[in-house]
Amino acid sequence: MFRLAVLLRNAAEPVVKVSTQDAIAILTINRPKQLNALNKEVSDTLIQELIKCDQNPALSVMIITGVDRAFVAGADIKSMLKLEGYTDALRHDDLSALRTGLPTIRKPIIAAVNGFVLGGGCELAMACDIIVASEKAKFGQPEVKLGILPGMGGTQRLPRVIGKAKAMEWCLTGWQYTAEEAERAGLVSRVVKHEELMPTALKIATTISQQSQITCRLIKQAINGSQETTLSMGLQYEADLFAATFATKDRKEGMSAFAEKRTPVFKNE
Ligand code: CAA
Repeated sequence: MFRLAVLLRNAAEPVVKVSTQDAIAILTINRPKQLNALNKEVSDTLIQELIKCDQNPALSVMIITGVDRAFVAGADIKSMLKLEGYTDALRHDDLSALRTGLPTIRKPIIAAVNGFVLGGGCELAMACDIIVASEKAKFGQPEVKLGILPGMGGTQRLPRVIGKAKAMEWCLTGWQYTAEEAERAGLVSRVVKHEELMPTALKIATTISQQSQITCRLIKQAINGSQETTLSMGLQYEADLFAATFATKDRKEGMSAFAEKRTPVFKNE
């Protein structure tokens, strides 16, 4: 009976709604009663949909957002409440597919942050490539208040982005921060009026989708690589990828279009 109820609910209302607009996929996390908290179903569905988009040659960019007043208010606390002990927590690592899958996505992902972006939500946004925030967004890593620590990258990505002192304050106090504070800290690429959130995310996505997708892939690879290597190794890696673009037809097209004073037409070749 319970299984039937779950199936019926899923048929009517997916936990991740997917729509497309030209070469852009919009993935909307849809668990409004729980402020879009990440449980296994959301986590698995989101990563499965992202992988499908990544493999679809008709798509260039993905946007992740949330319904109503949250982007994601964290991992699902009520699902975690019943876990007993270290082994149980490891065995029921509900977010593992998302945690390990996200860094393997090659196309750019924009987090369009519409409201609460807490705990695993902030970590999900940080695992995306660009964060655009509504002025209503509230950021934070409140796990400490639950007696746990961030478990999806908060203690690792946050200090790399906003620096050690701020990351310590965020994670040790569990305070919430406004979108403006997150932007000043360097976490967010821009803050916009609430109604401008999706138009802005779509404008960024559209501009990216008009570039050579091979080049965009290499840019993402190079910038992500910079977070995990020394400067000298990173500069060498960048020089190699830079030279690699000269093997593409798109590079020839981009430079020819400049010289001929016309808009380039990239064919991702
Ligand atoms: N998990 C499960 N349910 C959640 C949730 C979460 N993370 N966040 C909110 N909800 C549920 C609430 O339980 C509530 O459900 P009921 O109506 O059934 O009681 C509903 O969403 C609405 O929430 P509130 O009534 O609390 O709404 P509010 O406006 O008063 O407060 C809030 C909003 C400040 C976001 C508050 O809900 C809150 O503090 N949520 C928890 C945030 C949090 O601690 N996140 C970290 C989770 S741990 C984690 O993410 C680990 C990790 O790193 C992977």
